[in-house]
Amino acid sequence: MPLDAGPVRDGGPMPSPADFAGHVALVTGAARGIGRATALRLHRGGAAVACLDRDAPVLAGLVNQITAEGGRALALGCDVSRDVEVAEAVGRVVRDFGRLDAVHANAGIQRYGTALDVTEAQWQEVMDCNVKSAFLTARHSLPHLIATGRGAIVITASAQGFAAQRNVVHYSTSKAALVGLTRALAVDHAAQGVRVNCVCPGSVDTPMLRAAADRFGRDRPDGVQGLLAEWGRAHPLGHLCAPEEVAEVVAFLLSERAAFITGAAVSVDGGLIARLGAALPE
Ligand SMILES: NC(=O)c1ccc[n+]([C@@H]2O[C@H](COP(=O)([O-])OP(=O)(O)OC[C@H]3O[C@@H](n4cnc5c(N)ncnc54)[C@H](O)[C@@H]3O)[C@@H](O)[C@H]2O)c1
Repeated sequence: MPLDAGPVRDGGPMPSPADFAGHVALVTGAARGIGRATALRLHRGGAAVACLDRDAPVLAGLVNQITAEGGRALALGCDVSRDVEVAEAVGRVVRDFGRLDAVHANAGIQRYGTALDVTEAQWQEVMDCNVKSAFLTARHSLPHLIATGRGAIVITASAQGFAAQRNVVHYSTSKAALVGLTRALAVDHAAQGVRVNCVCPGSVDTPMLRAAADRFGRDRPDGVQGLLAEWGRAHPLGHLCAPEEVAEVVAFLLSERAAFITGAAVSVDGGLIARLGAALPE
């Protein structure tokens, strides 16, 4: 069958980039970094935003900011690796806001180690916070996304879903699993009108990255700033990514402008994965 055998759809006028008016969004890991940037981007696009994070005090500041800007937001302190807490949080969102249209399953942690030193408990912590959390967020959101008839999920994976660094065996594995989860969810729920994609960032200037720079850069002659600059130069575009640059891609994938995109792993990595290793001969 030719690939273009289906009926041609008239999608009508494309919505504007700011068109989340009347939508309800849920963002996990919203207290800081990429999740915070997405929550603000979706709010500024007109969505009511449910902000989930286990750091409830920091979440409260974000929700105050959104409210002060005239938006609607809900702070829900919860551990998204725990089924009962995610179920309760999603239930609260639908009770308070009446529906759910867009979900950014973004919460995650970075840990270090090789197969020789990562313990079973450390392995499990990373799998729970990075993979199980996205599964649970999708699982509890899906019935509501299906009910809207136009739901969308974006998962934050990583460039490390495609290429491994040294000393992050559990983190790298978890990010590859999220690419697989994205594809499986996309295939299972396409016919129910739910699109599922993931973003795969390179190095993003967030508290997570700063913590890594503090850990590995503090004894360098050029210090933490020198290491951050070096990580930036590792990307062909020559600098670190801003959280807002990831949020913009997440917003696009969650919007109707991405109506025919599902199951995709979208790189937001300044060309990191596109380039062959610098040590190879020209
Ligand atoms: N920063 C980067 O360079 C980078 C690159 C690629 C992918 N990512 C991924 O992007 C996502 C966000 O990263 P970030 O850099 O913004 O991190 P961050 O540490 O700055 O923020 C992550 C937030 O998630 C929350 N969180 C973590 N585990 C949680 C849990 N179980 N329940 C509830 N909240 C939880 C934290 O409290 C924190 O507020 C993560 O999945 C990370 O792996 C980050």
